Amino acid sequence: MQFDVWSKGLATLEADCLVVGVFEDGELAEEAKTLDTAAGGRIGKIVARGDFPGKTGETLLIGDLDGVKASRVMLVGLGSQKNYNRKIFRKALGATVSALNRTRIANVAFAVARPSFTELDDYYFGRVIAEVVGNTLYKINDLKSAKKGKPPALETVTAGPVRGAGATAAKRGLVQGAAIAAAAKVQRDLANLPGNVCTPIYLADQAKALGKAQPSVKVTVLDEAGIKKEKMGCFLAVSQGSAEPPRFIVMEYKGPKAPKAPIVLVGKGITFDTGGISLKDPGAMDEMKFDMSGSAAVMAALTLVSSLRLPLHVVGLIAAAENMPSSRAVKPGDIVTSASGQTVEILNTDAEGRLVLCDALHYARRFEPACIVDLATLTGACVVALGAHHSGCMSNDDALARELVAAGLRADDRTWHLPVTEEYADQLKSNFADMANIGGREGGALTAAAFLGKFTQGMKWAHLDIAGVAYQGGANKGSTGRPTPMLADFLIHRAGAVK
Ligand code: BES
Ligand code: MN
Ligand code: ZN
Repeated sequence: MQFDVWSKGLATLEADCLVVGVFEDGELAEEAKTLDTAAGGRIGKIVARGDFPGKTGETLLIGDLDGVKASRVMLVGLGSQKNYNRKIFRKALGATVSALNRTRIANVAFAVARPSFTELDDYYFGRVIAEVVGNTLYKINDLKSAKKGKPPALETVTAGPVRGAGATAAKRGLVQGAAIAAAAKVQRDLANLPGNVCTPIYLADQAKALGKAQPSVKVTVLDEAGIKKEKMGCFLAVSQGSAEPPRFIVMEYKGPKAPKAPIVLVGKGITFDTGGISLKDPGAMDEMKFDMSGSAAVMAALTLVSSLRLPLHVVGLIAAAENMPSSRAVKPGDIVTSASGQTVEILNTDAEGRLVLCDALHYARRFEPACIVDLATLTGACVVALGAHHSGCMSNDDALARELVAAGLRADDRTWHLPVTEEYADQLKSNFADMANIGGREGGALTAAAFLGKFTQGMKWAHLDIAGVAYQGGANKGSTGRPTPMLADFLIHRAGAVK
């Protein structure tokens, strides 16, 4: 896909299709008015007759308007003018791309009125367009045996109008938006794979492939012996019940002018979570193939920073294992020793995410990180608390939490700051070990975070519980690619690559 901007002369633009917006009250958005005038009032007439009510995301394709150079014009509904905002702009754009994708249109120029500049400046205007185009054209990597359909016809997208310095900002937005969509695709493709394909070894091989494709990313993989050497007793306790051996993946990206202290990203890579001996209910257990979404997001982030050559130092750590019941599996009541030396009584083998993460978080310490962000489909409790709309953000550093919340807002991939005060850690008390791995039903997302907090003391750390946002169930079952957009925004801002 090629992206560019246009600045003036809509009616004389060379394109297979121009897309303009129409509001619900029959009001044509500015660029639609321009075209309407050029086309002798044809668009206004369609709307006046009531043939295009302008409901959000509704589209109408009109061919060969006299006075308009492009061979087609597509109207897209923007809903009521007073409620128009960035979210509706995104929705309308997505609907347009879906409609275009059902045609053979190759070159499209977007002239969809954007909401106010404060909602969407030139940079984010470009970024949103490239992101929405990429995400909408995403095709699930299914394993259906029927012949695959034709690839999308869409080849070039121009967005406007943007002028002067705005054009530079919008172009940067387009480049970065395309990179974010490509990174989200990395996450989605990995997470959508079934557990029998996407095993810990598969994840490690994909990381190595990334290192080959991007020489700025150095990849090291620890096998079971290497993990034992690191004394990662909690991680090994999770994987011991599975015939699939675990892998610990280290990815290090050093960009131009990379600072010494890295941002360390840690991903939960449970390639399938049965719950282990504390076996889960069978309903929707298949969705536990998505339990490696955090690790896929780490892989996506490394892809993003290296493809954009951001001036950052980023380390990605992935603890990959399968959580299975077997005669060798860890049992409730078993006590294991983490790499940090702290002992853990495993009261519930289904609380395995925190066990693999605690050893990965301890491993992060050697990098003397500027900050650590872990990403994990960690608790059902977080889904109960926040649903699919926000991920949960827990941190021992309020400034870092605020930074992530702000990134989520800008990227339309929101996270909500939740508490991890010491009371939650008290719920983890054990009579037999330094701590238990569960803290009771109350505040389940927060006690999970408090557990991780015992391994990140003295480091700036944030934990993102993405259990509710990383994938969808039901008819549209599949990975959403979240929180890659938020993480991308966080990293791009840390790199100072916006302005
Ligand atoms: N992978 C699950 C969390 C999860 C649940 C993700 C639902 C997505 C949707 C995690 O390993 C888990 O099983 N957590 C337990 C913890 C409990 C035993 C303390 C949970 O949330 O039930
Ligand atoms: Mn579990
Ligand atoms: Zn899990």
